[in-house]
Amino acid sequence: MADVVADLLQFIDSSPTPYHAAAVAAARLSAAGFRELRAEDVWEISPGDARFVVRGGSLLAFVAGAAPPAAAGMRWIGAHTDSPNLRLKPRPDVSVHGYRQLAVEPYGGLLLHTWLDRDLSLAGRVSIAGAQGPRSLLLAFDRPLLQIPSLAIHLQRESERKSLELNAQQHLVPIVGLGTGTQLAALVAAELHAKGAAKIEPRDVLAFDLMAHDAEPARRIGSEGELISAPRLDDLASCHAAVAALVRASSRAGAAQRTRGIVLYDHEEVGSRSAQGAAGPLLGEGLSRIVEAFGDGGSQGLARAVARSRFVSADVAHAVHPNYADRHEPGHRPLLGGGPVLKVNAGQSYATDGEIVAEITALCRTCGFEPQHFAVRSDLPCGSTVGPITAARVGIRTADIGSPVLAMHSCRELAATADVAPMIDLLAAFLEG
Ligand code: CO
Repeated sequence: MADVVADLLQFIDSSPTPYHAAAVAAARLSAAGFRELRAEDVWEISPGDARFVVRGGSLLAFVAGAAPPAAAGMRWIGAHTDSPNLRLKPRPDVSVHGYRQLAVEPYGGLLLHTWLDRDLSLAGRVSIAGAQGPRSLLLAFDRPLLQIPSLAIHLQRESERKSLELNAQQHLVPIVGLGTGTQLAALVAAELHAKGAAKIEPRDVLAFDLMAHDAEPARRIGSEGELISAPRLDDLASCHAAVAALVRASSRAGAAQRTRGIVLYDHEEVGSRSAQGAAGPLLGEGLSRIVEAFGDGGSQGLARAVARSRFVSADVAHAVHPNYADRHEPGHRPLLGGGPVLKVNAGQSYATDGEIVAEITALCRTCGFEPQHFAVRSDLPCGSTVGPITAARVGIRTADIGSPVLAMHSCRELAATADVAPMIDLLAAFLEG
C-alpha cells in the first residue's frame, strides 16, 4: 500500500455507517482473494482458505492455517465498526414553525455539542417492499442534508453561556428543510431511484436503519499535513488497520501454521449486547466451526485452541490533550504521532495484563518501535473496548491496544498520519507472530 493515510481516509469516507464499514471490509477482502461464507451453510475449510462472513454491521474473516488450531493456536484481532451518532426514529417526520425536521435518538456516548452547526448527511440500510418480500439495500445520500443549529448567544441566559446543557430530546432535532415538502420515505425513494434502482413508491419504503454523519470528508490537516481530521476514527482507524494487516498476512501466508483472523463488531458503543455484537456468538461460533473443520470437534478441541490463542482488541486510545494535560496519569500520556498504545486497567476495563504487555512489547520491537502506555487517572472513569467482553466470553488471552486520538466520541476526531503505518505493521506482525 503506497499511501496508507490516503487509504484510511477513503475507508472512512466510504463507511458512514457500520453496515457500510462491513461492506467495505468485505469488498477489500474479496479483492484480496477472500471468499464469502454464509452463516446458514456448513463451513468446509481447508488449510490456506481465506474466508469471511458478514452479519449486519459486523464481519468475521480468517485465513486457515496449515496446522489444526487445537495444536497451533490462532491469532485474532477485534475492532468495532460503530461510532456514536444520531439515529432516525421509526416515524421521524416532524413539521413545526415552518421547518421540516427529523426525530433522532442518540446512539452511544456522543459529545452532543459537536453535532451542532455542522453539515450532516444520512446513510444506513433501508428495507423496500418487493414481489418476493422485503429486500434490504445500503443507502448513503453522499451530500449535506441536515443541520442542528445552535441557539444564538443573544438568546441564551447567563447560566447557559457559562455551561451549555443540551437536552437530547429537545435540542438535537436536525432541520432538513422548510415548508411542507418531502417526507423521509419520499426522500429515500427518490434517492434510491437517482442511484439507479427502479422507481419506488414512498409507501414501499417499509423500514430503515438510517443515521446522521458528518458530511465533511476525512482529510489531512496541519502545517505539514501531519494530522488527520476525520469522523469515526473510533474505531474505523482500527478496522482499517485490521483489514490491511489480515490482507498483508494472507499474501505472505505460504505455509503458515496458525489460523489468523479479524472480527469487526457492531454495537460496541452501546455495550455490545446484540446478535452481532461482541457479547453475541459471532466469534465463539466462528472459532468452533474452524476448529471442527480441522477434525477437532467438541469442547476439548475448542478449549485447546483457545488456550493456545491470542486476541488483540484494537481500539483508539486517548492522546494527551495539550489544553487538558492534567487529565492524564503522569507517566501514561500517549503522544499523538507516538505510535501504538498499550492500555491497562486494574478494573478490567481493558483486558491487557503484564504477560501480554511483554509479548506485544517484543512484537513492537521487531517492528522497530517502543509501545506507548495508557492507564487512566485513578479519579476518572475509564473507557472500555470489546477486549474484556471477548476475553470473558471466549476465555482468550487478550491485549488492548490502539492508535492515539484526540476528541474521542466527537463528531470529528483528530489523529496523526505518523500513527497509521505502525499500527498496521504491529497488527500484521501479531497475526504472523
Ligand atoms: Co472505540
